Amino acid sequence: MARGACVVAAALLLILLLILAGGQGGGVHCLRSRAVSGATVLELRHHSSGSSSSSGGPSRGKSRGGGGEAGGLLASDAARVSSLQRRVASYGPRIRPSSSAAAAFAAAESKLTQVPVTSGAKLRTLNYVATVGIGGGEATVIVDTASELTWVQCAPCDSCHDQQDPLFDPASSPSYAALPCNSSSCDALQLATGTSGSGQTCGGADDQPPSSCSYTLSYRDGSYSRGVLAHDRLSLAGEDIEGFVFGCGTSNQGPFGGTSGLMGLGRSQLSLISQTMDQFGGVFSYCLPLKESGTSGSLVLGDDSSVYRNSTPIVYTTMVTDPTQGPFYFLNMTGITVGGEDVEPSAFSPAAKAIIDSGTIITSLVPSVYSAVRAEFLSQLAEYPQAPAFSILDTCFNLTGLSVVQVPSLKLVFDGGVEVEVDSKGVLYVVSGDDASQVCLALAPLKSEYDTSIIGNYQQKNLRVIFDTLGSQIGFAQETCDYV
Ligand SMILES: *[C@@H]1O[C@H](CO)[C@@H](O)[C@H](O)[C@H]1NC(C)=O
Ligand SMILES: *[C@@H]1O[C@H](CO)[C@@H](O)[C@H](O)[C@H]1NC(C)=O
Ligand SMILES: *[C@@H]1O[C@H](CO)[C@@H](O)[C@H](O)[C@H]1NC(C)=O
Repeated sequence: MARGACVVAAALLLILLLILAGGQGGGVHCLRSRAVSGATVLELRHHSSGSSSSSGGPSRGKSRGGGGEAGGLLASDAARVSSLQRRVASYGPRIRPSSSAAAAFAAAESKLTQVPVTSGAKLRTLNYVATVGIGGGEATVIVDTASELTWVQCAPCDSCHDQQDPLFDPASSPSYAALPCNSSSCDALQLATGTSGSGQTCGGADDQPPSSCSYTLSYRDGSYSRGVLAHDRLSLAGEDIEGFVFGCGTSNQGPFGGTSGLMGLGRSQLSLISQTMDQFGGVFSYCLPLKESGTSGSLVLGDDSSVYRNSTPIVYTTMVTDPTQGPFYFLNMTGITVGGEDVEPSAFSPAAKAIIDSGTIITSLVPSVYSAVRAEFLSQLAEYPQAPAFSILDTCFNLTGLSVVQVPSLKLVFDGGVEVEVDSKGVLYVVSGDDASQVCLALAPLKSEYDTSIIGNYQQKNLRVIFDTLGSQIGFAQETCDYV
């Protein structure tokens, strides 16, 4: 609206180098940026470089006219968002509040471990992955803050997707044991998933040993992991966690790419965070790298800000806790600014609960907020020709042939006046690595006003995001996530 106000807005400093994979020309287009009055100026340049193939856009292959692999990955993201909405709605008071357990650990001495987190692009997923040790083998798993149970594919597999690492074979791990259905972990699993050990009766006859604890996790439409609950040694960057409870999945299907499974970093009892409460004190943080940078970010377990490389002070917003919230991390969103302009703050009247999630890609907003944000983007980008929608992204521009593009900055505002500026590379999604003919606003609308907005990983790049489950707060700081 009052774009004149931009003139008085303080200039932000943003350096943007968005690398587009070179086409047959062998060159790399770079979108360089500088910030002017709440906007980022992209300068489209053409560099010649030999390193284009591994530093492509979000899709591994070339995208063909709006479909292709990236489109499929974004469609599965939409399915995940719907599935999360159903899960949010389904969580009742089944989940035990974990505050008393947490208090018991509060005094424990905390350790710290740091695990590299990388883009899963090479494993055909737009999610982030980390490699952990389990029972002596290695597993590269998706880092997921909306999941409770960690699971890996297990031999012998009834139905497994192709994975990069060798399949985990329980028979080759002396420290492995399946958990019986009368174990407390099996009870916790039933609470978490609302299932009762696949409906099996536990125990049976007196002289029979109790059967093992089966699990079924359903994540997205048609996507699942099934197997038995087990425990084994988990190694996180040299730090061993004995008796770590996880799912040994013998039947798994979904958009897990070439990963071995999933790391559950949610709030509930069986998550990695809850299980390592005495080692790491219930605090973890991550810094997600730009996919195109090819570098590693970091997942830090434990509370020691000295290992962060944040360039701005950490600001904390209150985690919205509620025993009915399931494994999700909620915070209160109070506003969004686009290019320095407040977007219809009344939509947040006064705050809207949102989930912050490492496993969702594109941030999804309730329809009224999305349309206000979209309208503001359209008005600030009015000079650029529009392009067709791409998958779940409905606001696209054709930037072919332009040498300079002004991209408005995007700021998310949370309770307590906490402002989080989205990295300039988290604002737009470049569909094709070959040119700039379809560059889309990297946000999507939810179906219903009653849905819960989800802040996805595309908008969390180059930030240190700190989850302090005991202090019940979520922290943010700018950080360049290029650790290796
Ligand atoms: C589970 O059942 C077995 C055999 O019935 C029994 O020996 C064991 O103590 C039970 N474990 C728990 C945690 O109840
Ligand atoms: C979040 O917002 C709701 C609705 O405005 C409010 O009732 C609640 O107290 C807020 N929670 C926190 C932790 O700020
Ligand atoms: C994008 O714009 C360029 C230059 O104006 C034009 O040649 C091209 O056909 C457009 N591409 C699409 C997909 O609309």
